[in-house]
Formats: sequence, structure tokens, C-alpha cells
Amino acid sequence: MRIRTVAAAGLIASVALAGAACGGDDDEADATTEAPPATTAPPATTAPAPPPEADPPPEPEPEPEPGLPAFTAGYQDGLRLNSAPIPFDSAAPHGDVKNVYVNQTRATIAPDGTQTFPYPAGSIVTKSGSRGGDGAAIVAVMRKVSGADPEHGDWIFEEWSRSSASEPYTPLASGAVCWTCHVNAESTDWVFTTLQG
Ligand code: HEC
Repeated sequence: MRIRTVAAAGLIASVALAGAACGGDDDEADATTEAPPATTAPPATTAPAPPPEADPPPEPEPEPEPGLPAFTAGYQDGLRLNSAPIPFDSAAPHGDVKNVYVNQTRATIAPDGTQTFPYPAGSIVTKSGSRGGDGAAIVAVMRKVSGADPEHGDWIFEEWSRSSASEPYTPLASGAVCWTCHVNAESTDWVFTTLQG
């Protein structure tokens, strides 16, 4: 009787062990399928050191196009407000095919995705317009300068034109002739073209 009790106890123990081993086997199987083999990652000590960062060559300063003031330099690198070139419209001056750029980013003028107004001081809105295939063109600029002209949104309006690509731009018009029309865009800080797309 005593022997049988011991044998029974032994049997229970071995069943328990078998169960534990079974669970252990499953865990091992999971571990091998889920975790990547440690040997595939190279030891950190043998990783080649990255080459020393070479200083990038300095960006060349953009030059203004001949005849235009320095603040127009590189305007085409700014944020383009229109998503597609603006076609000729007899009701709007400034050329045939037009693009409008601003020296701001989406983050500064549309922080939540929708454009906010007014533009920050220092903003420069530039419209370029072609006038035929020989490079004739206009460049019209609105510069926001704090205190410069509070009655007209503190914008300074100036426009230049050239009659061919081989000639420099010359002043075309500025001031009152511009804001008498741009007052129609007063609700969007005197700027007709709003940020698209
Ligand atoms: C007869 C109305 C009219 C006059 C005058 C006018 N503009 Fe505009 N301007 C527009 C319209 C409309 C646009 C919108 C884009 C387009 O359709 O060409 C525009 C666009 C611009 C833009 C791009 C930003 C914007 O508002 O969309 C600038 C910069 C600009 N004009 C500057 C000037 C300057 C500088 C003058 C004066 C020399 C001037 N404009 C005179 C109607 C006018």
C-alpha cells in the first residue's frame, strides 16, 4: 500500500513534469519563430564607423534677374500659392501665364492646413508673368514692411517689365495704381491669390 502511494506520487510528478516540458517546448518554438536570430545583427563593435561628415559646399547666393532689386533674388524658390499657372484673364493685368510665390512656408501661413491672414511682416509676394515667347515678362511684388503703409496693409507695391529675355527689367508702375485694384482682395490681406492645394 505504501509502495503504491509512492508510485502514484511519482506518476503525478512525472505528468506534471511532462506538462511543464510541453509548455516549455511551445515557448521555445514561439521564441524561435518570432524573435529574429540574434546572429543576424552584426555585433556593434565590428560595425564600420560612418565616414566623417563632409561640410556641404555653400549654396550659391541667388542673384536677382538683371534690373530687379536684390529682394527679388530667388523668388521662384519660395512657396508657390497657385497650384497651376494662372492663365491670361483680360480682367487681370500682369501678363499671360502667371505664377505667384511667397517667401513663407505652409507652416507659417497655413499652420492648421487653412491659410491665415494677415501675412507676417517681412513677407514678399511675387508674381511673374510671361508676355510672349521671346522672354518678355513682368514681375510684380508686394512687400509687407511693418509701419510702411498701414492704410494699405503695410504692403509696398512695385512692378517691373522687360521686353525680351536679353534686356534688363525696368520699373513699370507702383503704389496707388496697384492698391486701387488690390483693395478688392482686402479680406485676404490685399492678396488675390490664396494658397491652393
Ligand atoms: C486691375 C486690377 C489690378 C491692378 C491695377 C493691379 N493688380 Fe496685381 N493682381 C490683380 C489680380 C486680379 C491678381 C490675381 C492674379 C491674376 O489673376 O493675375 C493680382 C496679383 C498680384 C500679385 C500676386 C498676389 C495676388 O494678389 O494674387 C502681385 C504681387 C501683384 N498683383 C502686384 C501688383 C502691383 C505691384 C500692381 C501695381 C503696379 C498691381 N498688382 C496692380 C489685379 C490688379
